[in-house]
Amino acid sequence: MEIKLPQWYRILGPRVTVLVSTVDKNGNSNAAPVSFISPLSAEPPLVMIALRPERHTLANIRETKDFVLNLPQEELINQVMICSKPFPQGVSEIKEAKLTEIKAKTVSSPRIAECLAWIECKFSAEHLAGDHQLIIGEILIAEIKDEFYKEFFLCTKAKLLLHLTGKDFAIPGKIVHPSE
Ligand SMILES: Cc1cc2nc3c(=O)[nH]c(=O)nc-3n(C[C@H](O)[C@H](O)[C@H](O)COP(=O)(O)O)c2cc1C
Repeated sequence: MEIKLPQWYRILGPRVTVLVSTVDKNGNSNAAPVSFISPLSAEPPLVMIALRPERHTLANIRETKDFVLNLPQEELINQVMICSKPFPQGVSEIKEAKLTEIKAKTVSSPRIAECLAWIECKFSAEHLAGDHQLIIGEILIAEIKDEFYKEFFLCTKAKLLLHLTGKDFAIPGKIVHPSE
């Protein structure tokens, strides 16, 4: 079947979902789920997230020049959806979702304690691409809870949330390796 073009991206997935935590210039924290995300460069370490222009997350990144990518697992699905609600600017979705804000190691944006990994980023560049603004971040530190990493990311154990569309997610079920 042919997929209508505005929905084309639905078959380019499922996509890793992150909670992007930020802070505004008055110190108010914010978190939003984002699944338009991609690694860009290993060295220097660069990541890209795509944000609609109206997102508070985008305004905060422009104000304070950093953000944290927090990786949520299956058990946080309801909190992720709470963070996707349109709260007014200045209201912390982290608090609304009853998640725990902890200090990041290298940036002013907070980490979310309940997530399984954290990638702290310094704003590097932005570029308009259609209906989204691409934000490129330089990664300052990436950390994961020990039990979820052994040679590679144990994503099945982590029950990582992968976004399909809307309220639909997948969870990685199997890790496979080629015979050679
Ligand atoms: C799983 C999921 C993934 C999302 N991915 C994106 C995304 O990649 N880019 C985006 O701009 N919005 C995305 N959204 C919508 C925002 O999270 C949502 O509009 C949120 O309220 C924005 O919050 P903010 O205005 O505080 O930044 C996604 C929502 C969900 C539930």
